[in-house]
Amino acid sequence: MKNLTNTIQNQIILTGDRATGPLHLGHYVGSLQQRVELQKHNDQTILVADMQGLTDNATNPSKVSSNILNVVADYLAVGIEPTQTTICLQSQLPALSEITMYYSNLVTIARLERNPTVKAEIVSKGFQRSIPAGFLTYPISQAADITAFNASLVPVGDDQLPMIEQTNEIVRKINSLAGKKVLTECQPLLSKSSRLPSTDGKTKMSKTMGNTINLGSSPKQISAAIKSMYTDPMHLKVNDPGRVEGNVVFTYLDAFHPDASYVDKLKQHYRAGGLGDGETKRILEECLQEILKPIRQERSKLLSEPNYLLRILQQGSETARQKTERALNDIKNVFGLNLFKC
Ligand code: TRP
Repeated sequence: MKNLTNTIQNQIILTGDRATGPLHLGHYVGSLQQRVELQKHNDQTILVADMQGLTDNATNPSKVSSNILNVVADYLAVGIEPTQTTICLQSQLPALSEITMYYSNLVTIARLERNPTVKAEIVSKGFQRSIPAGFLTYPISQAADITAFNASLVPVGDDQLPMIEQTNEIVRKINSLAGKKVLTECQPLLSKSSRLPSTDGKTKMSKTMGNTINLGSSPKQISAAIKSMYTDPMHLKVNDPGRVEGNVVFTYLDAFHPDASYVDKLKQHYRAGGLGDGETKRILEECLQEILKPIRQERSKLLSEPNYLLRILQQGSETARQKTERALNDIKNVFGLNLFKC
């Protein structure tokens, strides 16, 4: 992964997270490590998407507001450097909302309802009978986010590919309206690892389902999560042959253990029989405790200085505001609505 990411240079990168909960190990392997690499040779912005977080949490807004600084602390604790990456807050960038309004005229309700991610989320969030307008239209707002920064590359998980597709449709419509290239189409950069399963093995990790190991989890919480991890239900006695596929402990060892050939040997041993779940869990726990300890410590130090985190976010948002206002200006021009500016 490292080598591959190192070949990506001089791109304008925009990525973001909804601020609806602290970040977890799934984010760490899926996106955070990649961002730490990408920031070195690219112009990277990370958007804390608080407004998008409200699209399915408007009745419980503190779920968003109380997590903004947690997310910023998570970024810094894993090594995202505010001197190399612009970290900004969506609600502090009014140009994004204005751009969303202009784009809304270019997208039909039917197109939004066909977006596979939106479709799946309507069911998973129980919105079948009544969908908040802001939720249905969040792909438009995400297109505004991406194009306002003129992003060429958008690192995302595969569930976000339909958003990129919708963004590029809007870009083509704007360019065709303008009769020239005003906006650039973007490319997705898929996160390197397949999704990390939740500790119960049932779903993907989710900020909301309580089946995660967070970057800020305490040693006890980590230990408890590993003890309850899903393994092979048919592996009853130590000497029974066990299944590695679908065994969450091995999925995590693959994702986090630094020595892949050692993990391969463990797998062989487990398959043949004679390696107990207690032992595989002990090895995983040792490895995760070691990875998470410095991150947890840094994170809690940062959270004890909220003013520092606020300053990072404010400065990043100021930098971002200038970029997004330039894009808004270009888009208003396309519609002939810059009456007071030339
Ligand atoms: N939809 C993304 C998520 O669920 C968050 C997000 C908002 C985003 N705007 C973005 C991601 C722009 C990439 C680019 O986490």
